[in-house]
Amino acid sequence: MTEPFSTRLKASTATIHDEVEHTTFMIDLMEGRLDAAAYSLLIRQYEVVYAALEKKSRDFAEDPVFAPFHDESLSRHDRIRNDLRELGGTELPATRSAEAYAAHLDALETPEQIIAHHYTRYLGDLSGGQAIGALMGRHYGLPSSALTIWDFTDLGKTKPYKDAYRLRLNEIASTGGDEQVVIDETMTAFTLNGELLAELTAMTQHPAVPVA
Ligand code: HEM
Repeated sequence: MTEPFSTRLKASTATIHDEVEHTTFMIDLMEGRLDAAAYSLLIRQYEVVYAALEKKSRDFAEDPVFAPFHDESLSRHDRIRNDLRELGGTELPATRSAEAYAAHLDALETPEQIIAHHYTRYLGDLSGGQAIGALMGRHYGLPSSALTIWDFTDLGKTKPYKDAYRLRLNEIASTGGDEQVVIDETMTAFTLNGELLAELTAMTQHPAVPVA
């Protein structure tokens, strides 16, 4: 009996998820060793990434393999812009790795590749992202009005939404999608996130650019 695809996808990306989750920048941010400026720098990079991801999602919204995943209530870009205004971070620099991540998203050609990036970001935000939002408020005194990127109340309860998302993952093959392409591209998605966090580690550990 083959395991459902969502189980195989999670299992095959568990190690790289752990590596990304434990980058120095993420650990220091989550344990309160950085500051609101470092958090703003992270969100500024997510602005670049979500702009590209959400443009690509809209471009493929009618594609029969991607369409079951497309959900405008997941969109984060407008919320990130709002959060950056609240944080005074709209003029912060976009990093080389964030630009490279966005360029990679722009160049995607298949629905399976977009599902991989969609899954990596949104299911991540609906999981560990919830902890990130809570800890940024506690450690750095950020108001909820500056943390709306992590607010998914529009979706209703998170767990049923994630469970339904995983059922859609299990249906990819029946819609003609290639599961192996999703797994391979999800590995790439985690790698790009890891590079983005590694560059922020370098910027916050040895600040060449004043993080304002
Ligand atoms: C401090 C950082 C992080 C923490 C504490 C964290 C924690 C978690 C936890 C506890 C889950 C399991 C939730 C569940 O089974 O329902 C999870 C799932 C997930 N995380 Fe993370 N995570 C972090 C960072 C990230 C990052 C940076 C990404 C993406 C680049 C990511 C992507 C994902 C994805 C895609 C899932 C869903 C796995 C699945 O159910 O198929 N996480 N995370």
